[in-house]
Amino acid sequence: MKKRFLSMLLCASMAAVSLAGCSNGASSGAATTAAPQTTAAQADTAAKAEETKTEETTAKTAEASGEKLVVGFAQIGQESGWRDAETLSIQTYAAENGDKVELLFADAQQKQENQIKAIKNFIEQGVDVIGLAPVVETGWDQVFAEAKEAGIPVVLLDRRADVSEDLFATFIGSDFIEEGKMAAKEMAKLLGEKGKIVELEGTVGASAATDRKTGFDDEIKASYPNIEIVASQTGDFTRAQGKEVMESFLKSNKDIKGVYAHNDDMALGAIEAIKEAGLKPGEDIKIVSIDGVRGIFEAMAAGEANCTVECNPLLGPLLFETAAKLKAGQSVDKWVKSVDGVFTADMAAKVLPDRKY
Ligand code: AHR
Repeated sequence: MKKRFLSMLLCASMAAVSLAGCSNGASSGAATTAAPQTTAAQADTAAKAEETKTEETTAKTAEASGEKLVVGFAQIGQESGWRDAETLSIQTYAAENGDKVELLFADAQQKQENQIKAIKNFIEQGVDVIGLAPVVETGWDQVFAEAKEAGIPVVLLDRRADVSEDLFATFIGSDFIEEGKMAAKEMAKLLGEKGKIVELEGTVGASAATDRKTGFDDEIKASYPNIEIVASQTGDFTRAQGKEVMESFLKSNKDIKGVYAHNDDMALGAIEAIKEAGLKPGEDIKIVSIDGVRGIFEAMAAGEANCTVECNPLLGPLLFETAAKLKAGQSVDKWVKSVDGVFTADMAAKVLPDRKY
């Protein structure tokens, strides 16, 4: 009852800073799924066994009191299909497990200041765990220190924050540098290792943009001397800006043979620009991007895109499982790494019906 009131309060106060969307559990009940998954294998030393006993006791106490796991999540916004899929994954898990978990959700509309306000609100409301997809990497030290001071663990979801390790509990997400490298190798194959290409970068200062650029550019430089990146500019991870930037690339660069986009949405915008310029995307200009959203699979099946490096956004279940462990005082790995695959145009038609986002 108290929690529900607090979450309503949170929704109301967040409306004032343009944050949106609260999802509450429908009923109260035992925190069964939220209980830690303690096994004999984990208790490999006497010390660990002792630690495990304490964790079990904590979890049982929470279970017995019917206490829900309360997670506050500060989302970046709705800049891409990938982001929408991640939000849906989090909200769906919370809705389907409403007897055990409660989600306080804030949409920060791409603004770090809104994410910071949301985190401060979560601290005030006394949530069990704070989840955050940081829009940019820097500028988090103070608010994370406040969460630490309040004894609330912070889980970084999908993007990293540039803070000292003691200020967050874990990072759940992909290796963005590796994604960039995989994209570079695919681009090189498509171009026969030569030609001029352009790069559409993600949000300035975001780990997903910085690392995908580093991985790609370094791999091209190290292994493919005849591929030249002639222009590179941010499209802020959105389809509209991807299109706009591609239009200007096409005006000022002749003979572009490939586009590397840090996400599929920008690639889809670039495809529109290429078509409007009277060229054939996927043929005249090869398209390689990252995410694996349905739209790029449709483009690949239509022959208008060539490759996507998957980045899994379905992180909701893992977020709550990790939060439950943290609430129970269990240790979690500092990096819970997602496994990413590569999909090329020849696989698209077959794979499309089973895509989950
Ligand atoms: O942080 C992940 C990135 O953020 C996705 O690749 C992109 O689509 C999103 O906006």
